[in-house]
Amino acid sequence: MSAAPEKAAYEPVFTGDRLKELEAIMARYPTKRAALLPALWMVQQARGWISEEAMVEVAEILDLTPAYVKGVVTFYTMYHQHPVGKHFIQVCTTTPCNLCGAEDVLAAFLKHTGCEELGATSPDGKYTVVEVECLGACGFATAVLIGDDFLENVTAEKVPEILKRYQ
Ligand code: FES
Repeated sequence: MSAAPEKAAYEPVFTGDRLKELEAIMARYPTKRAALLPALWMVQQARGWISEEAMVEVAEILDLTPAYVKGVVTFYTMYHQHPVGKHFIQVCTTTPCNLCGAEDVLAAFLKHTGCEELGATSPDGKYTVVEVECLGACGFATAVLIGDDFLENVTAEKVPEILKRYQ
């Protein structure tokens, strides 16, 4: 019987300059734990998502339990708990956007990215498309977030052109 393949060793996120940056953030607060949200954001910026191992690493640095960190990660939808595409596309489908064709915009993003379903990543690893609640731009429906870019007045027809900017 052959041995199961060994899991790749976890590479810590917080080393070198990134650790110094986190220490500088922690120094701004009266307690270490107050730096939890920025620490998690730094993990996501570095790795694209937040793994269980990264949660343990953050917990150790901030003197928290891994369960507490996981509770925070799972509470906020902005934290990814699994790998996502290079471009994370969030389409608002709440009522005002919905009335202006958000469902068609969503369908166009799924079709033109090759994502087979909501939340799935395209086979080329470039895109993940999700639907979200109101993005706070109801007067400019349909509102879409691609990474940190906020797009307004998106229609299904504009989607292929938009995607050319996100390759
Ligand atoms: S309903 Fe879409 S941005 Fe508010």
